[in-house]
Amino acid sequence: MLLQNKNAVIYGGGGAIGGAVARAFAREGAKVFLAGRTFAKIDAVAKDISASGGVVETAQVDALDEQAVDNHADAVAAKTGSIDIALNAVGILHVQGPPFAEVPFEDYMHPITAYTRTNFLTAKAVARHMVKQGSGVILTLSTPGARLTGQGFLGNGVSSAAIEAFSRILAGELGASGIRVICLRPHAIPEAVATSHTREPFSGHATRAGSTVEDWLAGLARTGTLLKRLPTLAEVANFAAFVASDRASAMTGAIVNLTCGSLVD
Ligand SMILES: NC(=O)c1ccc[n+]([C@@H]2O[C@H](COP(=O)([O-])OP(=O)(O)OC[C@H]3O[C@@H](n4cnc5c(N)ncnc54)[C@H](OP(=O)(O)O)[C@@H]3O)[C@@H](O)[C@H]2O)c1
Repeated sequence: MLLQNKNAVIYGGGGAIGGAVARAFAREGAKVFLAGRTFAKIDAVAKDISASGGVVETAQVDALDEQAVDNHADAVAAKTGSIDIALNAVGILHVQGPPFAEVPFEDYMHPITAYTRTNFLTAKAVARHMVKQGSGVILTLSTPGARLTGQGFLGNGVSSAAIEAFSRILAGELGASGIRVICLRPHAIPEAVATSHTREPFSGHATRAGSTVEDWLAGLARTGTLLKRLPTLAEVANFAAFVASDRASAMTGAIVNLTCGSLVD
């Protein structure tokens, strides 16, 4: 197993990507600590993991609240002795779709402020322990909006670019302490969009195009990717497990392109 004896904290662990990654980490032998806002969501993921023989704990944590995040990380580290892996899979509901001239400044800033805040707080909380250990892996999530140009996603694009820059620069801050920082950049994952907060911002684009979210996603796959499809949750979760493992021990400061060729490097 890739992650035997590793302790992993997943912020937003009740979400589509957070939950899928948590299940993959547990399958690979990690002890998983799910932190999320709505207890029922993290509890559902935890029940799945336990039913499959995995080891999991849950905690209701607001990942935008510095004290709550610090207290939780401290409690996990005190209990287990180490935090080996952390993933921020928190999703921030925001508006996409309206043309630039109609975007209120607050709507533009909301994803930028919230994503940069939660990624800073969670990375800092776990890094304090990882620096003492001399090892650790911090994973973040961005979107192709970081590198695309187009209409209706300015706030999302700038927040994604900020998360990527944050991850790259943090890798430099923490590398000498043996900590790897990697940002995963998946394209829209249809199974995730079906249940996640992303359905609402994507419906802004679909409505503008006179389409449904499903048809809009199918169009993205058909015309906007080299593989003519979008990634699956399993592909993203399995890659996260690999990149968090010692098999990827030479990799840090990377933005991992999981876009099925929507973007090329
Ligand atoms: N879905 C995709 O296709 C896709 C593709 C590329 C990148 N991403 C990125 O991946 C990340 C996760 O997306 P997702 O689709 O998995 O979203 P999701 O299913 O909506 O999950 C997000 C999770 O974050 C939790 N959360 C929100 N605010 C929180 C807070 N303040 N404290 C703690 N937990 C909080 C939510 O819990 P509550 O519901 O209780 O608030 C939810 O469980 C996002 O950054 C997204 O941009 C998603």
